Amino acid sequence: MEEKCAWSTYNKYMARRRSAFLSQRRISSTEPPGHGPGHVGQPHLEGRRCCLLSEERLQKVMARAGVASRRRCEALIRAGRVKVNGTTVTRLGTKVSPWDKIQVDGQDLVWREPKVYLLLNKPRGYLSTVHDPHGRATVIDLVKDVGVRVYPVGRLDLETEGLLLLTNDGELTHRLTHPRYKVPKTYLAVVQGAVPPEAINRLRRGVALEDGRTAPAQVKLLGSSRDTSTLEITIREGKKRQVRRMCQAVGHLVISLRRTRVGFLTLKGLKKGRYRHLAPGEIRRLKQLAGSGTLQEED
Ligand code: URA
Repeated sequence: MEEKCAWSTYNKYMARRRSAFLSQRRISSTEPPGHGPGHVGQPHLEGRRCCLLSEERLQKVMARAGVASRRRCEALIRAGRVKVNGTTVTRLGTKVSPWDKIQVDGQDLVWREPKVYLLLNKPRGYLSTVHDPHGRATVIDLVKDVGVRVYPVGRLDLETEGLLLLTNDGELTHRLTHPRYKVPKTYLAVVQGAVPPEAINRLRRGVALEDGRTAPAQVKLLGSSRDTSTLEITIREGKKRQVRRMCQAVGHLVISLRRTRVGFLTLKGLKKGRYRHLAPGEIRRLKQLAGSGTLQEED
């Protein structure tokens, strides 16, 4: 319930930011989006679409840039020590964008991007990479309108579908993908043949792969016929093509594979090919799960 409220508040917040941008509420910058002074050195912030989520309250931007706490930044603004595009700003509700030049006591402030956390329902046929030199479709094609550059947290194979996180938070990415933090990832695998109990026990105990033995896994047989079986497999590491290779090692080729969970996150309500922003409460829980709950929150 609490999660639901947080999510709806967050959606409203995002909608407000979007409409604020679309009404082009700017300070005194006369440059078009993507060409102002703040744009120098940030080639990824190109044009209008990219800046959709980039208009933020001045004190928040200042705090994120490391000037001081948000409260202290408000005091600096009120005291007339902050300029935006050469004009002293004392109004606390002032919104700024990456192309605005901000100065505190005459010193230029370096804009830091807000952290973004997305949950994508990846369809088959998309590469989990930022760019493909052969021009094939990547998961980034599915999140183009986000406004900041994000990258996938780990990989799902081209033919694997399901839950994929994308973010620009390098620390969290590291923790979610490093086996030391043991974040559980659950897959639904449809495999060839009827899987006998011995094979399931081997998968549970761990199987020998060419790059080492897999750690113990949770494995449930959800259904079985003569031709195929459906397994739910939860692993806490992330070797390359791990689930496919584990199943193959016990004699059952994977026909289709879908990741259904990462930690407490599921695909509930999210159609294939669609993404959503994580709610602030989900981000907090995810950081805790990955052992970084003490990292400073952006929001
Ligand atoms: N294991 C696999 O075999 N493939 C994936 O994409 C993810 C886990």
